[in-house]
Amino acid sequence: MEKMRAIVCTKYGPPEVLKIKEVEKPAPKGDEVLIKIYATAVTASDIFIRGSQIPIQFWIPMRIMIGLTKPRKSIIGLVLAGKIESVGKNIKRFKPGDQVYGLTGFGLGAYAEYKCMKETDSMQGCLSLKPTNITFEESTSAAYGGLLALQYMERGNIQRGQKVLIYGASGTSGTIAIQYAKYLGAEVTGICSTSNVDLVKSLGADFVIDYTIKDSINLIEQYDFILDAVGKIKTSKLKEACKKALTLNGKYVSIDDGKLILDSKRLDLIKELVETGHIKPVIDRTYSLEQIVEAHEYVGKGHKKGGVAITICK
Ligand SMILES: NC(=O)c1ccc[n+]([C@@H]2O[C@H](COP(=O)([O-])OP(=O)(O)OC[C@H]3O[C@@H](n4cnc5c(N)ncnc54)[C@H](OP(=O)(O)O)[C@@H]3O)[C@@H](O)[C@H]2O)c1
Repeated sequence: MEKMRAIVCTKYGPPEVLKIKEVEKPAPKGDEVLIKIYATAVTASDIFIRGSQIPIQFWIPMRIMIGLTKPRKSIIGLVLAGKIESVGKNIKRFKPGDQVYGLTGFGLGAYAEYKCMKETDSMQGCLSLKPTNITFEESTSAAYGGLLALQYMERGNIQRGQKVLIYGASGTSGTIAIQYAKYLGAEVTGICSTSNVDLVKSLGADFVIDYTIKDSINLIEQYDFILDAVGKIKTSKLKEACKKALTLNGKYVSIDDGKLILDSKRLDLIKELVETGHIKPVIDRTYSLEQIVEAHEYVGKGHKKGGVAITICK
């Protein structure tokens, strides 16, 4: 039996519950591809699943989904980028050697050297060819941040010249949301803390509001579309004021409104936008598989800039 290295999470808890282990290497079925994973990521979702700190009103439905007493999937990890190593006999979209990126959904398992996935979209994941002009690490940020940003931005039907506000402009989804809004021709304002002002400007934001300064609330105007890219767990007076800072037909959307859709067509669009230079994914830090505890500790603080990647194969 062939073996691989993986990060195993057999109980909910602090980052230290994550252990590196040798486990059985998966073999693809007829409708699956075997992916050699070059990079994964530590996302807000991975922190959420590992820590399982679920608000009381969502506790039962969430635990039913992710595992009642311990994680349903012992190998967690939502995002991957890698190369197709082999394909099952029914596979049409991919061939060995193809470089791919995607999300594993409830199939999880990206914190490992190998992962089997179907080529069709489902709750168990979505997969596409990765952008050719960025690294595997950057591709993990493009996949997670891109799917989140594009899905929720599309709800705004943003038109050229409209005013768009991104609350939480420096996270994985926020950094892509800024660039996507600029691509659509909007006038973009980003909200972030002092240390991220230059980053958000460099991504193309026309205006940046530093939420740490006194009276930042007085700087907000009226917007045609507002995206809360931080999520509903964190709130503030400024965020509450943003909810009301809308034009007559303006729309406010939270990144936590409904479920993330695992959509390979959207991954294809992100690939195109990255390859044409409209979107450049941001990577804050890169860790090795052995440094997974450190990586979870850092991301758990809630202030990463763009994405945090884990290199699995160089
Ligand atoms: N709908 C779904 O199914 C689904 C799926 C996955 C994730 N999500 C949601 O998406 C969210 C965003 O994920 P992500 O990975 O893009 O986030 P992230 O990278 O973890 O975002 C962190 C950013 O939030 C900013 N931030 C932290 N506290 C803040 C505050 N009090 N006020 C304003 N900004 C603050 C930080 O900027 P500063 O350092 O400048 O503060 C940081 O850059 C998740 O937290 C989750 O709620 C939803």
